[in-house]
Amino acid sequence: MCELYSKQDTLALRRKHIGPSCKVLYAADPIKIVRAQRQYMFDEKGERYLDCINNVAHVGHCHPEVVKAALKQMEVLNTNSRFLHDNIVEYAKRLAATLPEQLSVCYFTNSGSEANDLALRLARQFRGHQDVITLDHAYHGHLSSLIEISPYKFRKGKDVKKEFVHVAPTPDIYRGKYRENHADPASAYADEVKKIIEEAQNRGRKIAAFIAESMQSCGGQIIPPAGYFQKVAEYVRGAGGVVIADEVQVGFGRVGKHFWSFQMHGKDFVPDIVTMGKPMGNGHPIACVVTTKEIAEAFSSSGMEYFNTYGGNPVSSAVGLAVLDVIENEDLQGNATRVGTYLTELLNRQKAKHTLIGDVRGVGLFVGIDLVKDRQKRTPATAEAQHVIYKMKENRVLLSADGPHRNVLKIKPPMCFTKEDAKFMVDQLDGVLTVLEEAIGAQTESVVPENTPCRTKGGPQERFGLETLGEEVKQKSLRS
Ligand SMILES: Cc1ncc(COP(=O)(O)O)c(C=O)c1O
Repeated sequence: MCELYSKQDTLALRRKHIGPSCKVLYAADPIKIVRAQRQYMFDEKGERYLDCINNVAHVGHCHPEVVKAALKQMEVLNTNSRFLHDNIVEYAKRLAATLPEQLSVCYFTNSGSEANDLALRLARQFRGHQDVITLDHAYHGHLSSLIEISPYKFRKGKDVKKEFVHVAPTPDIYRGKYRENHADPASAYADEVKKIIEEAQNRGRKIAAFIAESMQSCGGQIIPPAGYFQKVAEYVRGAGGVVIADEVQVGFGRVGKHFWSFQMHGKDFVPDIVTMGKPMGNGHPIACVVTTKEIAEAFSSSGMEYFNTYGGNPVSSAVGLAVLDVIENEDLQGNATRVGTYLTELLNRQKAKHTLIGDVRGVGLFVGIDLVKDRQKRTPATAEAQHVIYKMKENRVLLSADGPHRNVLKIKPPMCFTKEDAKFMVDQLDGVLTVLEEAIGAQTESVVPENTPCRTKGGPQERFGLETLGEEVKQKSLRS
């Protein structure tokens, strides 16, 4: 039996007993999920949804090998890492083998937030510096120390930016300060970091770390231009700081060709600290910080013990090992490349057809669809994106919209996603966009030239007041 309560009762109990800031997806019409398998989730009525957003269920929901590994170890022993045990050392050895040689020392934690918090402690202890450079729109976790360095959060709440935090522009070549037509956006964005360092130093401040996701996820599926991180690393290290690569969302082979996303930037870029989480345990709460021997030794020289009750316990390590085995045995990196390339091709065809699609960007199974009201101005189509995800849900496809304007459709499915799933998802999206564009009067032609403005001032979109997706549009679209 999967259900204790009717959906209505579950909702009522949730409203009563769960903090109101814990949001549900599709708040206007939440889904109750009772089981999941591979890339599919099932509601209480047995309806199947194609999961395009759960990068935590990395090797597929409830993968039997991962479940088996957890059960087997739970029957024998689970305890903290103060006792010698083979699982933790075997897991650390296997993880280190996926990384460049100098990244060899692991600290296990229970969440991506804990990993990033510890990474900051390591960085600050290393040279005794305090300041952190972070990217605009970044999210690095829910702990106080991470809200402070997450503009995605602190810009929305009442918190103000702390003095020791410096925000660099996101290296976004579609919507950012320097775009695809710039001669060298990587250097231009890296120079912004250099300027921040110089200004901070002029005020007597000292840089402890630069932290960034290797590809920004909550920030809108942003892929930094090649060469950016090398230059940033040079400036940050020159100031006595370290580079932290947050791979909590984008690690473990999601990009296909490489196991870690930072590796897309070439062998000459190696972060000083890498943090990982989400996909690591396929849903089991495990996370990790990996760093160099030098930084780890500086951390222990403070004399303070690092103890984490659950971090690296025998069950978590067994789960982590099983995930690594499945990635390898099922060639999920190869699958990410094959299916991701196919998906991006299909989406680019949709871009030629639908003027609402401003940009399709992605690598492997990490893809973003930037919806715009106007291709030339790149005006974010926020209300339209919300409408699309609700309509896709009606068509049994789970998607989310994120980025600073909440207009980027995020695709980051379990890595067992197939070409058939990609085709199904894109077909549904095509249908939803066709009806929506018809309703709002945007062009839907078989081939629309790049940069064609999709509306004129005072056109139908304005009349419909799309900021809130006018009722007329909603009605037409809902009739589809
Ligand atoms: C890039 C990134 N870093 C860190 C975290 C925090 O991870 P957790 O929610 O496991 O604490 C998240 C969570 O969404 C994230 O997206």
